[in-house]
Amino acid sequence: MKAQKISESVFCLYADVQTADLFEGIWPIPRGVSLNSYLVRGKKTALIDLVRDWSGAPKQLEEALASAGAGFNGIDYLILNHLEPDHTGWLGEFRKINPKAGIISTARGINLVKTFYKEETGLRAVKDGDTLDLGGVELAFFETPNIHWPETMMTWEPESGTLFSCDAFGSFGALGGRIFDDEFSVEEHGFYEKEGLRYYANIVSSFSAFVERGIQKLAGLNIACVAPGHGMVWRKNPRTIIDRYLKYASYSRAGDASGEPEIAVIWGSMYGNTKTGLDAVIRGIEAEGVPYSIHRVPNEDVSYVLADAFKSRALVLAMPTYEYAMFPPMAYVLDIFARKHIFGKTVLRIGSWGWVGGAKKEYEAAIEALKWESVPSMEWAGAPTEQELAVLEERGRELARVVKA
Ligand code: FEO
Repeated sequence: MKAQKISESVFCLYADVQTADLFEGIWPIPRGVSLNSYLVRGKKTALIDLVRDWSGAPKQLEEALASAGAGFNGIDYLILNHLEPDHTGWLGEFRKINPKAGIISTARGINLVKTFYKEETGLRAVKDGDTLDLGGVELAFFETPNIHWPETMMTWEPESGTLFSCDAFGSFGALGGRIFDDEFSVEEHGFYEKEGLRYYANIVSSFSAFVERGIQKLAGLNIACVAPGHGMVWRKNPRTIIDRYLKYASYSRAGDASGEPEIAVIWGSMYGNTKTGLDAVIRGIEAEGVPYSIHRVPNEDVSYVLADAFKSRALVLAMPTYEYAMFPPMAYVLDIFARKHIFGKTVLRIGSWGWVGGAKKEYEAAIEALKWESVPSMEWAGAPTEQELAVLEERGRELARVVKA
């Protein structure tokens, strides 16, 4: 990829990763992901964020640098906003090529440079408000801890108004030759918005309070361009992605009716009896005209389930009893929900049992910390009767009315 000019001094360099591998070893990226780095040039040269050796990313970065007339060995400072190895895994190789470049990060970041990469020299820890003079271009640093690792910072270039935000304001999805928000169609923006929400729900949602704090801290900056570590660079409408993050952060607040007025239906069924009951619930939801998404587990990856559950104000959880307890794929989903702070939802749980129930006790323990409101649960033995189906349809209506209220 060629370097893309943000200003006379600032260039975006990115590597498109297309891989069957999982992001963080957990999350599928069937349409890839970009690893964005940035070149800032005054009399001295800084490279902001690196790559890992993943799907040819170092070679792509080298080519992008070359297209801007630069090379790894000409970098004076390597700025690491965040130490997760998607942005730093190639650090050892970089240092072999260029042992003189100073490495700049927060104190916690420098500690991770030492523990992850065993580098001990040429390291500078910066704190809030510290600056780096490149000769004609100055960079400033803002600590933004826990968006999403504790050492995270953002780098600011005031002349062009560019905020290098690392994982914040990012998205899954490779870029395929374009980088700026004004270069994508409305349809493409729809794709990246969806992938951006999944990215947020998967890797950022646990830290929503820190997202709000970080955005507050940066409120005084006149941001003309948001330049994240993944996904498109927002030079036309930077406020769009900042406001979107504020909205996502609000979804995590316990106690509010958090999320959009829609329902995420998550279901598993062994032999169809739970599915028959769920169909009745869905008839009730449809009768009330509330939009819903539907996800079967374990068939669908939890990454996608998480995104729609995070966004929706209400959930339906439909699962059979399995060996006197919850259907195991649903137990996994609920464990992920707890880890990712899927708070403040209104939930209807339903399911069929064979010899005896048993999911209830485990379910209630699993959701204890999530501060959910419940529409009364409904369980039945074997196949649902006509009477039970009528009750289930009414429960679907009841849940939908809560969402509309
Ligand atoms: Fe893109 Fe947290 O690394």
